[in-house]
Amino acid sequence: MDLRGKTVVITGASSGIGRATAIEMARRGANVVIGARRMPQLEETAAACRALGVSAIAVQTDVTKPEECKRLIDAAQRVDVLVNNAGFAIFDAIADADPGELRELMDTNYFGTVHCTQAVLPQMLERSEGTIVNVSSITGIMGFARMGGYCATKFALIGFTEALRDEVLSRGVRVALVCPGTTDSEFFVKAERGMMPTASRLMIAVKPQRVARAICNAAEDGRYRRILPLLAMTYMRLKELFPRFAHFLMRRTSSLLERK
Ligand SMILES: NC(=O)c1ccc[n+]([C@@H]2O[C@H](COP(=O)([O-])OP(=O)(O)OC[C@H]3O[C@@H](n4cnc5c(N)ncnc54)[C@H](OP(=O)(O)O)[C@@H]3O)[C@@H](O)[C@H]2O)c1
Repeated sequence: MDLRGKTVVITGASSGIGRATAIEMARRGANVVIGARRMPQLEETAAACRALGVSAIAVQTDVTKPEECKRLIDAAQRVDVLVNNAGFAIFDAIADADPGELRELMDTNYFGTVHCTQAVLPQMLERSEGTIVNVSSITGIMGFARMGGYCATKFALIGFTEALRDEVLSRGVRVALVCPGTTDSEFFVKAERGMMPTASRLMIAVKPQRVARAICNAAEDGRYRRILPLLAMTYMRLKELFPRFAHFLMRRTSSLLERK
C-alpha cells in the first residue's frame, strides 16, 4: 500500500512509539488522526505532522472507553490504516501485584485494542480494504519475571490478532503484528514507578523511530509479524524452538545482572 494520501489512525501518539509513528506516517505522505489522553502532547505531535505537509487531527481519547474509541474513528471518517499502539506497563512480582492495576493494564493494552478494532471493522469490511497494525511486544511471546501482569496483556493481544487475521483476511482486510523489544521511551519510567530505567535496559534499547519504521512498513506491505531488533528476534526464535532453554538462559542472565 502506498501511504500517500491515506488516512491513518494511531492510538497513544502523545509520546514514544506512537508519536514517532505519526511523524513517520506523515513523512510517507499519510494524513493522521491521533488519539491519547494528554492533549498538549498530542497537539505537539499533530503540529509536527502538519509541518510535513499533511493533515493531522488530535482527538482526546481514553482507549479504555469504547465510546471514545468510536469518536476517534468517526473523526477520521474513512480509515485506511489503524495502528493500535496505546499501552503502558507496571512491573511487579505477581505475589506483590495490585489486582486493580492488573485490571487497568488489561483495560488499556488489550481492551483498548478491542474497542478501536470493533469501531473500525464495519467500514473496512464493507469496503473490503484496510489494514490494522497491533503493537504487542516480545513480552507477548515470552513471559519475563516481574512483568507477568503486562505480559498477560501482550499475550492476549497476540491471540486476538491471530484470530482476527484469520477472520478478515479473505474479506480484504489485512492484520499485522509488531513486537518490539526494549524501546527508549517514557514507558520504563512509568513501569518502574518513576525510577530511571536500568543501564542494562538502556544499552539494548532501540529508538522509537526504528519501531515506527517497522509499523509503517507493516502498514505498507501487510506482512503478518515483525519482531525487532535482530537480537530480540533471534531470542524469540530460540524461545519458540527451545522454550525451556530460553527461560533458563533468561533466569541466569537476570540473576547475574541483579548481583552486579
Ligand atoms: N518501550 C518499550 O520497551 C516497549 C516494548 C515493546 C512494546 N511496547 C509497546 O509500545 C506501545 C507504546 O509504548 P511506548 O514505549 O511508546 O510508551 P510511552 O512513551 O509511555 O507511550 C504510551 C502511549 O500510550 C498512551 N496511552 C496510555 N494509556 C492510554 C489510554 N488509556 N488511552 C489512550 N492512550 C493511552 C499514552 O498517552 P497518554 O498518557 O497521553 O494517554 C502514550 O501516548 C505500548 O503498547 C507498549 O506496550 C513498548
